[in-house]
Amino acid sequence: MDIGYRLTDVELDEIIQLILQKYGYDFRNYARTSLTRRIARCMNIANLKTLYELKYNLINEPSFFTWFLETLTVNVTEMFRDPLFYKDLREKVLPALASYPIIKIWHAGCATGEEVFSMSILLHEAGLLNRTKLYATDLNPANLERARKGIISMEQTKEYTINYIQSGGKNDFSVYYTAHYQSAIIRKEFRSNILFAQHNLAVDQVFNEFQLICCRNVMIYFNRELQNHVFKLFYNSLSPKGYLAVGIKESLLFTDVKEQFESVSAATRIYRRKN
Ligand SMILES: C[S@@+](CC[C@H](N)C(=O)[O-])C[C@H]1O[C@@H](n2cnc3c(N)ncnc32)[C@H](O)[C@@H]1O
Repeated sequence: MDIGYRLTDVELDEIIQLILQKYGYDFRNYARTSLTRRIARCMNIANLKTLYELKYNLINEPSFFTWFLETLTVNVTEMFRDPLFYKDLREKVLPALASYPIIKIWHAGCATGEEVFSMSILLHEAGLLNRTKLYATDLNPANLERARKGIISMEQTKEYTINYIQSGGKNDFSVYYTAHYQSAIIRKEFRSNILFAQHNLAVDQVFNEFQLICCRNVMIYFNRELQNHVFKLFYNSLSPKGYLAVGIKESLLFTDVKEQFESVSAATRIYRRKN
């Protein structure tokens, strides 16, 4: 399928610089092929035929940039995504976290919240929710706005129910949300311990110490250098013996902090800080 205008390497750098200087978002260390493809997709949807038109809109139309940012980043997510990962959390991670009087968990790149809502349900079922603080961050403010409302797709609840059962869930999944027209809303009690905030993994710093960090399907869009930087940020944000979970296609194998972690589950990419 032809997706229209393809930026050259030099043009891509120009756009990256423009976004950095005008809006402060740093895409310099994102994987270039996928970034080029996604910019082409944005241009196609917005019916922009030239680099000049793209630059003009980015410079003169802040509302265009809001849309562009939302369309540029991949926001795909679901509840209990990769159910076996959640099964491993139930069986291998939560029992260890139970020994802490207060548990702090960070979801970095939380998109529209489905991942942190799943974690909240898991914690509730393990009897740990009332002493857990969940921090869910993302680069994209539009994602956070939706996440704060607790809205999930009604159409997908069937799929989420299957994921939930495969993750070892024993309840009726529908007790966790209320239906509201075409949407479903996660019940308030499973959202009240969650703090949603904007945080950019490429430029922002450590902001707390956590017993578990989940950053799934985010670093796949970064180049090696940025992945390395973010893994170091996570190392410095974890308490000794803290857990780190990344996406099934992500790994810390090629990073500087590799030796500082041990594997808890190779298949579901859960690691633990050695000390
Ligand atoms: C594919 S979604 C993953 C959502 C969820 N973690 C999951 O696995 O279902 C990737 C998310 O990473 C966010 N993201 C991309 N770059 C980021 C950055 N530099 N800092 C924080 N979040 C970022 C995007 O806005 C998007 O919401």
